[in-house]
Amino acid sequence: MKKIMFVCLGNICRSPMAQIMFQEIINQNKLNNKIMVDSAATSNYEIGNSIYQPAFQILKQNNYENIEHKAKQINDNDFVNFDYIVGMDKQNIINLKQMCPKNCLQKIHLIYDISATPTNEIKDPWYTNDFQTTFNQLKEILPLWLQKLINELS
Ligand code: 4NP
Repeated sequence: MKKIMFVCLGNICRSPMAQIMFQEIINQNKLNNKIMVDSAATSNYEIGNSIYQPAFQILKQNNYENIEHKAKQINDNDFVNFDYIVGMDKQNIINLKQMCPKNCLQKIHLIYDISATPTNEIKDPWYTNDFQTTFNQLKEILPLWLQKLINELS
């Protein structure tokens, strides 16, 4: 079993979108018993809240269903239990590195790390209000993560 956790600032926009979209490609590839995905926030701002309405809408428009979500903050167990902790932007990475137990630091990656443009990031749509760009970026990058995890399955 490979476990990946997507992380953003609030866990109500980018990382739940990533989780839901990644779960969909896990399902399509019948990998539910081999790959597990979750999401969390670096902050405690939105704990317990649902996905933000515009993020919900763009997923709905693109035929994603079962959009149930309750925001949570990443904790020490997550750093230990997950194989990959994947942040959306560079500030997420700075925050994650401050929160992470030292022996788990190597699990932290920027979402574009594994792409041809490793310094790119997914800007916060909470501020840009551009949920279409967030969706398009995730749609492009998530299959690379799935392929990486598939390659690592033994
Ligand atoms: P997210 O967006 O990190 O993509 O979930 C945000 C949601 C809420 C806040 C900031 C970013 N906030 O400050 O409450």
